[in-house]
Amino acid sequence: MAKYPKGIKKTYTPKLKQGRVRKRENPDVYVLRCLLQASPHYVSGNHLAEKLKMSRVGVWAHVDKLRKAGLSIEASQNRGYRLAGEPDLLVSPLLEAWLKECKTDCPFYLLQKTDSTNSEAERLLAQGTEAPFAVLSHQQDSGRGRMGRTWHSPKGGNLYLSIALRPNVELVKFRNFTLWQGISIGKYLKDLTGIQNLLVKWPNDLICDNKKLGGMLTEASIDCDQVRSMVFGLGLNVNSKLGDFPTDLRDSSTSLLAASGISWRLHELAAKLIKTCLVTSKECLGKDADTKLLKEWKEMDYLKGKKIKVQSGKETYTGRADGIDHSGGLRLKLRNGRDRVAHAGEVSLLL
Ligand code: BTN
Repeated sequence: MAKYPKGIKKTYTPKLKQGRVRKRENPDVYVLRCLLQASPHYVSGNHLAEKLKMSRVGVWAHVDKLRKAGLSIEASQNRGYRLAGEPDLLVSPLLEAWLKECKTDCPFYLLQKTDSTNSEAERLLAQGTEAPFAVLSHQQDSGRGRMGRTWHSPKGGNLYLSIALRPNVELVKFRNFTLWQGISIGKYLKDLTGIQNLLVKWPNDLICDNKKLGGMLTEASIDCDQVRSMVFGLGLNVNSKLGDFPTDLRDSSTSLLAASGISWRLHELAAKLIKTCLVTSKECLGKDADTKLLKEWKEMDYLKGKKIKVQSGKETYTGRADGIDHSGGLRLKLRNGRDRVAHAGEVSLLL
């Protein structure tokens, strides 16, 4: 259970912009938006009853339903309700409330279990679902990574998130999409958690203390050099303990909990990551995007100056990593003094 901060025992009257419940707004989501705005304080049952145009018993029934879904909502006789904690599994109304708090209008599909959220997003796109939208799942049976790898996706505590877009832009404008997302997500996580040693390993790994914290997988459908639809998948180890990882991943993986000692609130993380991804997908189309990318990559580049081996198809070469070029390729200084740029491949560190 990840906790919400405890305040002094004060009642706060949330001033949601609309003042009233939005037309057709789910009452559970409205209650949670009020509790989030009031956090760490309480919201009176009277206030909720008035806004929702129902009795206090009716409000209590909604609170009870949210509790049964796993949320910890404290009740105090004279003060009302307070959001105290959330479980390690996403709950739809709380994610919706957080997205609204972040002013992010993105429909989402939250699944108990799926093969892969990227595959689910592709199926929804193929059915004509309007984009953007997000797909999240409590667990994945066939979570996949780059180069045919699998992504370990057990139930509880981690994020498996895919965001589907229909960008209709030239491929060249989106060629650095994953690098942009890596920088934005890395910076956001660094700011949120205060973990300093959080960097991006070209092209798609989030690294913390030299271990893998998360991975990104972008898959696109291209037609005549135009990106028609695309799915950006993010797997992030949030609250898993090192002992929860299979033995073959234990030495090379980490989580936000393992790195910081704190249990993180999945709903806030998911909502803010969705926001970050949507904002970044516009930013990477902006003027001078390539110049900005080169500058920002320097701050987040895990490989910078390290001795590495790149395995690309049947070819293997070694050298020192030297940042990226404007096309997003990994620059290497080879042992023979020449420069080389890798556009694809598996990168490993040499000691
Ligand atoms: C990698 O490290 O190679 C990328 C891993 C990407 C994993 C995420 S989890 C959510 C989404 N669904 C998938 O099947 N893969 C991505």
